[in-house]
Amino acid sequence: MTTNLVNIQLPVLERPLVQIEPVSSELELLKLETENVLSLFKQHGGILFRGFKVDLSAFSSFTDQFCTHYVSNESPGREMLSEDGRIQTVNIGERHFPLHPEMAREPWQPDVAWFNCESPAQIQGETNVCDGIAAAKAFPKELTKFLAKNKLAHTLPTTLAWCANYLKKPNLTITELSKYSTDELRFEIKNGELLRTYIRPMLHKPMFSEEWAYGNFLVFARKQLGIRNFPTLGDGSEVPDEIVDEIERISNSLAFDIKWQKNDLVMLDNTRFMHGRNPIGDPQNRRIYTQFGYIKNN
Ligand SMILES: [Fe+2]
Repeated sequence: MTTNLVNIQLPVLERPLVQIEPVSSELELLKLETENVLSLFKQHGGILFRGFKVDLSAFSSFTDQFCTHYVSNESPGREMLSEDGRIQTVNIGERHFPLHPEMAREPWQPDVAWFNCESPAQIQGETNVCDGIAAAKAFPKELTKFLAKNKLAHTLPTTLAWCANYLKKPNLTITELSKYSTDELRFEIKNGELLRTYIRPMLHKPMFSEEWAYGNFLVFARKQLGIRNFPTLGDGSEVPDEIVDEIERISNSLAFDIKWQKNDLVMLDNTRFMHGRNPIGDPQNRRIYTQFGYIKNN
């Protein structure tokens, strides 16, 4: 990188993100060398860029250096900032959110979660992040054993049209659907209803690491949404409360609060890091933009 023009602080226990700051306010974000940013990202999984000027146009140009395309988040309470739906605000409410990777309930979970702070809250409103590798390492043996031998199943009603579109088989018939079932995505008819089930391990290897990590939809579903049957364990049974509580407690103990400053930009490996947020005292002041993208093959 133009290393004499930026300060790079590598992660420490209390701050699991790389922090990159320009030495001179003249240095533009887009002048950073992509290869060097990518190398830090691959190794550490999260970067906080602080002190650069970032408007919506710089936000999308910068992310395009690393991502091929983006997915729009359909969860409610977000404002759309670009016509194609790729830049949105975060949820504009004031509630706390438990740690979660973005869209981990679907097989198309995005690779990179991007956040850009246009203006921070003055009262709380920190986004917190937790490295899923550190969480998996901190889990006690019994919990690790449980996670290693179990999977999570996410079952939703679906339609033949949805399946035909997803599988890119326009002439798909209901009778041939089951042959497209895989270990990761199962199609079946139960009590006359067509269902699709996304199945994932409870511990996984992030896209740029050979180490085990934890991060999925379970704690968010249980603690935020109060849903007990999405996801379930692979056999359809509920995940015991003690397991969910222990995962939440340990992940929270490792979480780092990002105390937002205007123009902060965060790049998170969404296959490795979880994010959540503290309650927000003045949500009217908090403007944080997001994009959720798929990494370019480099
Ligand atoms: Fe999120």
